[in-house]
Amino acid sequence: MTTELVQLSHKGPIATIVLNRADKLNALNAEMLTALEAYADELDRNQDVRVVLLAGTGRAFCVGADIFEWSDLSPLEMGRRWIRDGHRIFARYARLPQPVIAVLNGYTFGGGLELALAADLRLAAEEVQLSFPEVKLGIIPGWGGTQRLAQLVGPSRAKQMIFTGESLSAEQAEKWGLVNEVVPADQLAARALELAESIAANGPVAVQMTKQLIDAAMPASGDNGTVLETLAGSLAAYTADAQEGVSAFRQRRQPQFSGR
Ligand code: COA
Repeated sequence: MTTELVQLSHKGPIATIVLNRADKLNALNAEMLTALEAYADELDRNQDVRVVLLAGTGRAFCVGADIFEWSDLSPLEMGRRWIRDGHRIFARYARLPQPVIAVLNGYTFGGGLELALAADLRLAAEEVQLSFPEVKLGIIPGWGGTQRLAQLVGPSRAKQMIFTGESLSAEQAEKWGLVNEVVPADQLAARALELAESIAANGPVAVQMTKQLIDAAMPASGDNGTVLETLAGSLAAYTADAQEGVSAFRQRRQPQFSGR
């Protein structure tokens, strides 16, 4: 993989993927999605890898989809390409045989939170903020967020987060079961490695089977939901409100929504 924007490295049985676009707070563009998919293919086949860490550089884990990329797509491209690509690629991580741990160092917003939700465990630094800010742009979380968040924290809390777009502190997220553990920032990398090593020391087949069994016990795999999310995401992105939301973000001002 040639891009510098997503990097894969190995330390014994632990693979680490790092989102490396710090100047844009690791906002996900098409190049990064392609790299993430290629790495998922590689990891899926690599029996030597027992645990995967997903991390970000700089001030953010990831602030979500790159607004400047998707906002220029047509509604059909939005649904056929952007939304379905995200669904497919994030599902690749959710379905990797190995456990995946998202290591949240900073802002975990929108598609960044959706990627973290596709992981099996989430570890967060104390100052991390998590949010689904999409409604502030007049759009919806379209990469599995409406489905995976509700499964993890229940519909009522998911609705609160998604309807308000407000940030949750790491501490609150831990209380809600959205993150597994919160640690001081300077201990994040060491704790992530410790957790990964503890899992990697166990029988890999047993660990991988339990991952599949627990996932199989979850309510409906979400396929119906992701189909609806694709349609709703394409529609929402082309409302007058979404045009206004994106213009406001570009111009760094508050949006004036009209409900159209
Ligand atoms: N897509 C594309 N670029 C983004 C981005 C996104 N989702 N989020 C941030 N960036 C870019 C900014 O445009 C800025 O680039 P610039 O320096 O070239 O102008 C850079 O990342 C830093 O962001 P900035 O907004 O200046 O940092 P901040 O510390 O003031 O604010 C946030 C941080 C996370 C509060 C703010 O960036 C934000 O609200 N981002 C949008 C999050 C979002 O709506 N995600 C869902 C997208 S569908």
